[in-house]
Amino acid sequence: MKTLDKGIFITFEGNDGCGKSTAVRGVYDELVKRGYDVVVTREPGGSKIAEKIRSLILDNDNMGMDSRTESLLYAASRREHIVKVIKPALEKKQIVLCDRYIDSSLAYQGYARGIGIDEVYEMNMFATEGLLPNLTVFVVADPEVGFQRIRKNARELDRLEHEDIKFHKDVYLGYMKACEKYPDRIKKVNGEQTLEEAVNEAISVVVNFVEGK
Ligand code: TMP
Repeated sequence: MKTLDKGIFITFEGNDGCGKSTAVRGVYDELVKRGYDVVVTREPGGSKIAEKIRSLILDNDNMGMDSRTESLLYAASRREHIVKVIKPALEKKQIVLCDRYIDSSLAYQGYARGIGIDEVYEMNMFATEGLLPNLTVFVVADPEVGFQRIRKNARELDRLEHEDIKFHKDVYLGYMKACEKYPDRIKKVNGEQTLEEAVNEAISVVVNFVEGK
């Protein structure tokens, strides 16, 4: 097993249906193959209480949830996840790969829900005590494509996925704004190539970062 000087925190972001979760699995397999100690997790959720908050947020029974309530619940779930999973792993000098993190809140709640990116960022600074990823991989794909893709999936749509295409286009614009604000941290991967090509691009971005090339 390769040992690192300190833990590395890497997050993956993108619209629903962009192929991000497949990229996380591909990156995980490659890092493990290279001998790294890797933890893979997701938000909202990733720990017992955080998963309970996830169920509450995504429950179709909770349509019409107030936007700030939603934003606070994502942040509460994030707080639990950091304390129970992310921080302990980073302290053990592991690589943490997390499917979604703060930029989802900036894009979905800050921009698409209209709360304001800066307001949601500040609220998350309280929840996270300033813990930001070392690297964020943003899988960029036309929101229309992801929107159609999740509707072809066999499983039932969750509360956020039920939002209309205008909402998902706003999420995309919100991500673009986050990229402009944090260009050093957020790296874009083209999600409009074949899924295999997109995964390979994500792998090379992460491996280059971890191996400091
Ligand atoms: P998932 O489908 O990628 O697991 O994410 C669940 C939904 O939650 C997805 O539609 C994105 C949304 N989300 C937010 O709106 N804000 C957040 O902070 C996070 C982490 C996810």
